[in-house]
Amino acid sequence: MKKLDDFRLMFGQREFVPIMIGGMGVDISTAALALEAARLGGIGHISDAMIKTVSDRRFDTNYVKEKLKRYKFNVANSDKSVVQFRLEELAEATRLHVGKTMEQVRGAGMVFINCMEKLTMNAPRETLAVRMRTALDAGIDGITLAAGLHLGSFAMIEDHPRFRDAKLGIIVSSVRALQLFIRKSARTNRLPDYVVVEGPLAGGHLGFGMDWAKYELSTIVAEVLAWLKNEKLEIPVIPAGGIFTGTDAVRYMEMGAAGVQVATRFTVSDECGLPDKVKQEYFKASEDDIEVNETSPTGYPMRMLKSSPSIGAGIRPNCEAYGYLLDATGNCSYITAYNKAVEANPGAKKVSVMEKTCLCTHMRNFDCWTCGHYTYRLKDTTKKREDGGYQSLTAEHIFKDYQFSIDNQIALPA
Ligand SMILES: Cc1cc2nc3c(=O)[nH]c(=O)nc-3n(C[C@H](O)[C@H](O)[C@H](O)COP(=O)(O)O)c2cc1C
Repeated sequence: MKKLDDFRLMFGQREFVPIMIGGMGVDISTAALALEAARLGGIGHISDAMIKTVSDRRFDTNYVKEKLKRYKFNVANSDKSVVQFRLEELAEATRLHVGKTMEQVRGAGMVFINCMEKLTMNAPRETLAVRMRTALDAGIDGITLAAGLHLGSFAMIEDHPRFRDAKLGIIVSSVRALQLFIRKSARTNRLPDYVVVEGPLAGGHLGFGMDWAKYELSTIVAEVLAWLKNEKLEIPVIPAGGIFTGTDAVRYMEMGAAGVQVATRFTVSDECGLPDKVKQEYFKASEDDIEVNETSPTGYPMRMLKSSPSIGAGIRPNCEAYGYLLDATGNCSYITAYNKAVEANPGAKKVSVMEKTCLCTHMRNFDCWTCGHYTYRLKDTTKKREDGGYQSLTAEHIFKDYQFSIDNQIALPA
């Protein structure tokens, strides 16, 4: 019987333990978590979602306060087009977050950054280019293009000196999305170094509609592998979404996958950025406590605990402080949903907005409890404490459990 450690993820001549811990914004996949993956010989991800907030928390900068001060005059205005990111500050925050992380890398693995296209930031092209270029400047080992089609992303960095040496990959949920990306990037004469194929059981945003349950990761992975073979393209394929044990992972390796990307099991690790009390909510969850809903203003369905404080919370849009989801014209569908609720309840001190959520604020405050489908199995990965809570786990314990377990077993902590 094989274990995941019998396989290696190859990037050129370099070999890695075939475990990638997926990016989890906003700072749920912390630098500490990514660094553990690298130390153990795998690949970890930090995320550049709301990077100025993350920098304020990590490095005591004041980006959010300053931005709010600058745009305070606009908070009651539903037109947010004036709220712009200063590109030099975005670069500074990226340099800090990435640079300080990379200084601490130990071990044979690598640290990548998860870069979501849907963070349109009121100037999609300009901000995305700064985010990627600065991450490369600051020494990131690789960039995983996520949440969006990224059709122009390679072209934005093709003149960067590290364009051909850094690892660049993309997350797709269908063979069609991969074909489109490769066709649109062909002009840069560079293929992605890896493709994460994310199925419908993943956490965060889903690359499917509300009919997600009709799709199956193994089918999509098989389609991608077959297409690549047919095209004679040798790109490592990394399945993600619902891979809960080492044995699940081995099944994909035997199909021809190069590695796996996992996340949910690490949401309850000591190194994960979620507050302890939220980790306990993840442990406690039953299957019925989890839903896929359309409250994210990005337009993608998102999986989360039904008890997430973000659901129904009718707070005033916080774009002057954050504004990461403002589109190129300064709109976000939460603003529309909020205004509708206010109009329908004239004079009310508080409104409830069920349709959409102020995702920036709630992700920033760890109040949107996004999670993978198998979150309800987390309780089986640890022991119950005497006080009724669940014992948290080290990232090393979880990583090694994926690496060495066989026969669907899950090792409990000592
Ligand atoms: C809490 C949480 C937050 C996530 N945030 C992001 C994100 O910001 N960007 C992204 O591309 N994927 C995100 N994901 C998806 C993961 O990176 C990963 O691909 C997926 O969850 C793997 O499936 P698993 O959780 O069943 O192991 C998130 C997943 C979780 C559980």
